[in-house]
Amino acid sequence: MTYKHWRLTRDDDGLAWLDFDTADSATNTLSRDALSEFDHVLSALTSPAPKGLIIRSAKSAGFIAGANIEEFTRIDSAESARELVKRGWDIFNRLAKVPYPTLALIRGHCMGGGLELSLACRYRIAVDEPGTRMALPEVMLGIVPAWGGMMRLPKTVGPAVALDMMLTGKGMDARRAKKIGLVDAAVPVRVMDNAARMMVTSGAPAHKLPGLQQLMNGPLKPLVAAKARKQVAAKARPEHYPAPYAIIDTWAKYDGNALAVPAGDPASLEAIFQSPTAKNLVRVFFLQERLKSFGKASDFAPAHVHVVGAGVMGGDIAAWCALRGMRVTLQDQSVERIAPAIARARKLYEKKHRGDRKQVQFTLDRLLPDPDGHGVARADVIIEAIFEDLEVKRRLFAEIEQRAKPEALLATNTSSLKIEDIAQALKDPTRLVGIHFFNPVAMLPLVEVVDGEQSSDAQVQRAAAFVRKIDKLPLPVKSAPGFLVNAVLGPYMHEALKCVDEGMAPEAIDKALVEFGMPMGPIELVDTVGLDIAVAAGKTLAGNNAEPPRALMQRVDAGKLGRKSGEGFYVWKDGKAQKNDSVEAAAVAPRIIEPLLQAARRCVENAVVADADLADAGVIFGTGFAPFRGGPMHYLGQRDNTVVLPA
Ligand code: NAI
Repeated sequence: MTYKHWRLTRDDDGLAWLDFDTADSATNTLSRDALSEFDHVLSALTSPAPKGLIIRSAKSAGFIAGANIEEFTRIDSAESARELVKRGWDIFNRLAKVPYPTLALIRGHCMGGGLELSLACRYRIAVDEPGTRMALPEVMLGIVPAWGGMMRLPKTVGPAVALDMMLTGKGMDARRAKKIGLVDAAVPVRVMDNAARMMVTSGAPAHKLPGLQQLMNGPLKPLVAAKARKQVAAKARPEHYPAPYAIIDTWAKYDGNALAVPAGDPASLEAIFQSPTAKNLVRVFFLQERLKSFGKASDFAPAHVHVVGAGVMGGDIAAWCALRGMRVTLQDQSVERIAPAIARARKLYEKKHRGDRKQVQFTLDRLLPDPDGHGVARADVIIEAIFEDLEVKRRLFAEIEQRAKPEALLATNTSSLKIEDIAQALKDPTRLVGIHFFNPVAMLPLVEVVDGEQSSDAQVQRAAAFVRKIDKLPLPVKSAPGFLVNAVLGPYMHEALKCVDEGMAPEAIDKALVEFGMPMGPIELVDTVGLDIAVAAGKTLAGNNAEPPRALMQRVDAGKLGRKSGEGFYVWKDGKAQKNDSVEAAAVAPRIIEPLLQAARRCVENAVVADADLADAGVIFGTGFAPFRGGPMHYLGQRDNTVVLPA
C-alpha cells in the first residue's frame, strides 16, 4: 500500500519504520488527510504486527510542526470543532494502545499535534542538535492541546512542568526534554537510528512518574490547579484569554479529555472555538507568517553588520545581530561610548544563554568595538543609529559611501528624519533604506523596512531579507512621518497625556488600557520611551503648532525624563514604575484607543502600509496591541460592523 504522506517500510529484524513526509510541503503537518492515512497505517500494521514501530520524519525541516492551522480557519461550528478534536484524540489513543512497542524519533521541531503523537508512543528519543525543539504552543493560538496533550503530558513530566509548558507554549531543546523526562534519551545525530532500534526492542517499561508527581496528578490535583490558576490570572484575563483556564480545568476535572467537558462549561470546546480570541489569534499567526515571507525573493546572505552609534538603539541593535550569528563591528566616537553597549550585550547573552559561559563568550567574540570604523569597508550591512541630526547623518553617509563595499546595504535607523533628505548626501541615493528598530530591541519583534522615494526595490528586498536573517519580522512601510508604528502610537499617547492634563491619575489611565489588553499603559509607555523623545515625536507628528500636553512639558522642564532619569509620571525604582495599585481604572479606554484606530486607518488610506492586514500586523508586533482583538483595523471593522468580505 502506498500513502501520500507516509512511507512505511519493514526491515529484516521485523521493525516497522514509518517516515512522515507531508506531500507538497516543506514541513510535516497533521492535516485531516495525513491523520486519516496514519489511521490506515495502523490498520496495515495489525497483521502481521511488527516487533516495534519507529516514527520519524523524512523532511530536513524537522519532525512535525503540528496540526494544519489552515484547517482551523474553516471551523464554523461547535460540531466541526468537536470533529477536529475527536479525529486526533481517537487516532492517538489507538496508537497508545497498539500491542507492539512504539517510538518517536524526534529531530528538529516537534510542536503541538506532533508532540501529542510522540506522547502516545511508548518511547521518545530526541536528537541533540540546535534545531530540535519540543512544545505545545496551542495556547498561543487561543486553543487547547486536545489531541491527548492535556492528558499525557502531565503523566509524562508531572503536572507542574506540564502546565507550565501548556500555559506558556514555551519550547525546550533535547537536553532539557531529557532532564524533565519528556524524552527517554537525547542522542547525537549519527547514532539516532541505532539508538531508536535498540530502545524500541529493549522491552524496557515506559517512563513512569515518581511517587510525589503521581500524587500531584491524583489527589493533589485541586491544589496544583489552584496555584496554576493564580499564576495565569496574574497575566491573562479569562474574558480575553479563555484557553489557559480551559487547559487547567480540563486537566484537573476531566483528566485532560476535552471531549468530556460539557458544552456550557467555560472550558468546553464550544466556548473556546466560539470566542473571538481563538479566531483572532489564528489570524495573528497568519499575519506573522506573512511578515516572515517578506524578503524571501532576495538571496542576500549578509554575514557582517557594521553599526554606527553605540547609544540606546545602536548598541542594542549590534548586540542583537551578534546574538543571531552575525559578525558585528560597533562604531562610536570613542571606546568609552561603546563600553556600556558591550556591557549591556553581555547581560543579554547571559540571559539568553542561561549562564552558559562558553556560549556567552562565543557570542561576545562576534561583537567588536570599532571606534575607528574599520568595519565599514568590510560590512555587508551598515546601519546608522547616531543622534537625530540631519547634517551629521549626511556627512556620515557621504563618508561611509566612499569606503563601503559597492554591494553593501546602507540603512538608517532614523525615527523622524526624512530618508530622502539623508540620501541626498549619497552619490547613489538608491542604496539607502530605513531599517527602523523599536526600543527595547531584544523585546520587540517588529522592524519597519522603510522604502524611501529614492530607495531601489532591490535594496528594500535585501533589507527585508536581512531583518529575517536576524530573526525579526520585517514590515515594509513607505517613508512618511512616524512610518506606521509611531504614527499610531503618537496620537494614542497624546490623548492619554491630555487625560493627565484633565486631572486623571496616571494609574487610572494605565489600568484602563491594560484592561483593554495593551501590554503596558500609555503613560508608563511615555515614561519608558522618555519624555523628551515623546516631545520630539509629538512635534514631527503633529507639527510645531500643536499644543503639547502641559503635564508633559512641565516634567521635561524639570528634567524628569521618565525611566532613564528615575522619574517621569512615575518614580522608577529598579526598572519598575512605582504605582499606587489601589487606584481604580478610569473609563477612558475607548477614548484613548480611538486616535490609534483612526491613525491606523489613515496609514492604510495613505498607503504607508500596503493593506489593512499589514497595519494590523505592524501594530500588534510593534506595540503589543491586544493580540486577541486581531489588530486595530480588524477591531475597527468588527466594532463598526463593516466587516470587509474576502475577495
Ligand atoms: P543615543 O543618543 O542613545 O545614541 C547616539 C549615539 O551616536 C551616541 O553614543 C553618540 O556618541 C553616537 N554618535 C553621534 N554622532 C556620531 C558619529 N558621527 N559617529 C559615531 N557615533 C556618533 O540615540 P538613540 O536613542 O540610540 O537614537 C539613535 C537613532 O535611532 C536616532 O536616529 C533615533 O531617531 C533612532 N531611534 C531611536 C529610538 C529610541 O527609542 N531611542 C527608537 C528607534 C529609532
